[in-house]
Amino acid sequence: MDPSHLSPLPADIDALESDDWLAEFHKVWPSEPVVIRNLMQKEPMRFKGMPQALTHEHLVETYNDTMIAAFTHMTKDKSAIELEFKDYIARIKANPEEKLYARAIPDIHNMILDRIDDKWLVDEVLGSKYTRKMSEAFMDGGKLPMFFVGTNYSFSQAHCDFGTSTFMMIEGQKRWVFYAPDQSPLMFPYGQKRNVAFNAGLDVFFPADERKLFRDNAKGYEVTVNPGDVMFFPSMWWHGVQNIGDLTVGIDLPLVDTVGSWGRNAPFTLATFANPKLAMAVVEAMLTGQSFRDVFFDGYLLDKDEMKKKQAELDAKLNVDVASKVAAAAAAPASTNP
Ligand SMILES: [Fe+2]
Repeated sequence: MDPSHLSPLPADIDALESDDWLAEFHKVWPSEPVVIRNLMQKEPMRFKGMPQALTHEHLVETYNDTMIAAFTHMTKDKSAIELEFKDYIARIKANPEEKLYARAIPDIHNMILDRIDDKWLVDEVLGSKYTRKMSEAFMDGGKLPMFFVGTNYSFSQAHCDFGTSTFMMIEGQKRWVFYAPDQSPLMFPYGQKRNVAFNAGLDVFFPADERKLFRDNAKGYEVTVNPGDVMFFPSMWWHGVQNIGDLTVGIDLPLVDTVGSWGRNAPFTLATFANPKLAMAVVEAMLTGQSFRDVFFDGYLLDKDEMKKKQAELDAKLNVDVASKVAAAAAAPASTNP
């Protein structure tokens, strides 16, 4: 694909080089995505011990046998399987080609909330119009942040929703692509289950020939973020991610942004919040003690039988792949090193 439709993200600010990164940020925000480079290094008291304290080695120690959901397919919404975190890490290390991607692992052990100054991030950096209290009410009694752990081979399909995101890069790199809300007609959009979010009906990284409308007309931004960088992007902006590095860890702090969403994309916002199925699911979740996140991610997990089948398929493939790697290593000529 000719990448000429992508230009570097204009709002790219290095906190270590700027005299006043926050003032620079506020000149642009919330009109478009902004990356603040080295923000964790610049503001160590706001991100205690990060990024080093939250690398995958630390996560394995704490999450260990906690069950997490991992996507097995990048463009199918309903493709996630459940497995223990330590098995997930062992698995993506043994066979990254499987392209498993654990998205939105909840911060149940307070690893993130114990370190970040979320109040400062939301109230002072993003501005008070972002309704932190409303977001907290929706999500597990205030546990908003989530981990994203992937491999070099995984990516997420471009999508947009009513959330404003603060994404903190911890380990490895991520390449982000963004398309403004006015590009929506070019994205072949369709609603996820209950319209909680909208997916692009094409692979923005490798668009097929029949998506000519997108190929010829779309204009987007790209940016690659490193450990310590923090990426902010407004609701209803289309975003897709490619993971770069053997193992990547990032953290998202999502916030519900109804007012901004309405201003940027009224039809999508209406389709989400006026959806009776979503309203019913939220009421049901409240009555049964679930969180809004459970509703949001409900459509992703495979049904029990399908999940078992998928796990067996992956296990069989993993055994074959590992066996062939062992055989190849055994057949390789002996090292000439002393
Ligand atoms: Fe997203």
